[in-house]
Amino acid sequence: MDLITSTATLPLLFGCVGVFGLLKLLQWLRTRAYVRDAVVVITGATSGLGRECARAFSAAGARLVLCGRNAEALEELSRELAASPAAKVQTHKPHTVTFDLADPGAIVGAAAEILRCFGHVDVLINNAGISYRGAVVDTSLDVDKRVMETNYFGPVALTKALLPSMIRRRQGHIVAISSIQGRISIPFRSAYAASKHATQAFFDCLRAEVEQHGVEVTVISPGYIHTHLSLNALTADGSKYGVMDESTAQGRSPAEVARDVLAAVGQRKKDVVLAGLAPSLAVYLRTLAPGLFFSLMASRARKERKSKHC
Ligand SMILES: NC(=O)c1ccc[n+]([C@@H]2O[C@H](COP(=O)([O-])OP(=O)(O)OC[C@H]3O[C@@H](n4cnc5c(N)ncnc54)[C@H](OP(=O)(O)O)[C@@H]3O)[C@@H](O)[C@H]2O)c1
Repeated sequence: MDLITSTATLPLLFGCVGVFGLLKLLQWLRTRAYVRDAVVVITGATSGLGRECARAFSAAGARLVLCGRNAEALEELSRELAASPAAKVQTHKPHTVTFDLADPGAIVGAAAEILRCFGHVDVLINNAGISYRGAVVDTSLDVDKRVMETNYFGPVALTKALLPSMIRRRQGHIVAISSIQGRISIPFRSAYAASKHATQAFFDCLRAEVEQHGVEVTVISPGYIHTHLSLNALTADGSKYGVMDESTAQGRSPAEVARDVLAAVGQRKKDVVLAGLAPSLAVYLRTLAPGLFFSLMASRARKERKSKHC
C-alpha cells in the first residue's frame, strides 16, 4: 500500500513542482518582454525601495529616469547602474531629474525634463514618500499638509503632467506605491495613513478613467520594508523622528519588495497587497468586522501611549 502511495505521490509532486516552475518562468519572460527597453521613471530613487526598484528595472533592461531631491545620490546610482553587467547589453545610461515633490511649482518643469530624456514615458513609478509619527492632538496642521504634499499632491501633480502624453500615445502605465496603511489606519500615523488612503482612492478613480485610453494603473500596498522610512518620518512638531522602528527594521528587504513591484508591473496587476498574513487579514477585518477592528486599534493606541510614558 505504502509502495503504491509513494509511487503515485512522487510523480504527482514532481509534476506540480514542474508546472509551478514553468508558470514562474512564463511570468518572468512576460515581465522581461514588457519592461525591456521601456522608459521607466522612478521617484524617490535615492533610497530604500526606489533605489532597489531602479536596480531591478535596470537589470530587466528598462531605460531609466531616476528622480529625487539629492542630485549627487542620483548621479551615483546612475553611474552604478551604467557599470552593472545588465548595462553591458544596453546602450542607455539612466537619466536623472532633480526636484522636490512637495514643491508644486517644480513639477510641471520636472515633467517636461522627464519627457525630454527619451521622448516619452512608458512606466511612471510614484514611489517617493515620507512617513509620520505622532498623536493627532499634538500635531500641527502644517505637518499634515507637508505629508500630503509629498505623498499625495506631488504624485498626483506629476501623474497629471505626464498623463496627456500617455493618452496621446494610447500607451502608458502608472504605478502608485501606497502602503498597507492606505487600506487600514493604525494609531499615531494619521497624516501618513490619510495620504495613502487618498492615494489609493485617486489612483482607483484614475484606473477606471484611463483604461479606455490604453493607460494602465497599478496600486501597490506593501507592509513594513527595512528602509530609512521611519528614520526620515516627521513628528508632531515637524522635526525628524530619527528612530529605526523595530517593525521597520524587521520588515522585508527592499530588494525583495522591488522584485515584487517589477513582477506586478510586468503582469499588469491592478492592485497588489505585499504584506504578511496579519496585516492582510486586518484589511478584511476592517471591512467585515469594523467594530472588532476599531477596538483592537484603540487597545493598541492605549498600549503605545503607556509604553511611551513609562
Ligand atoms: N518602508 C516601509 O515600511 C514602507 C511600507 C509601505 C510603503 N512604503 C512606501 O514606500 C515608498 C518608499 O519609501 P522607503 O521605504 O523606500 O523610504 P526611504 O528610504 O525614506 O525613501 C523615501 C524616498 O522618497 C524620497 N522623498 C521624500 N520626500 C521627497 C520629496 N519631497 N521630494 C522628492 N523625493 C522625496 C526620498 O528622497 P530623499 O533622499 O531626498 O529624502 C527617498 O528617495 C514610500 O512611498 C513609502 O510610503 C514604505
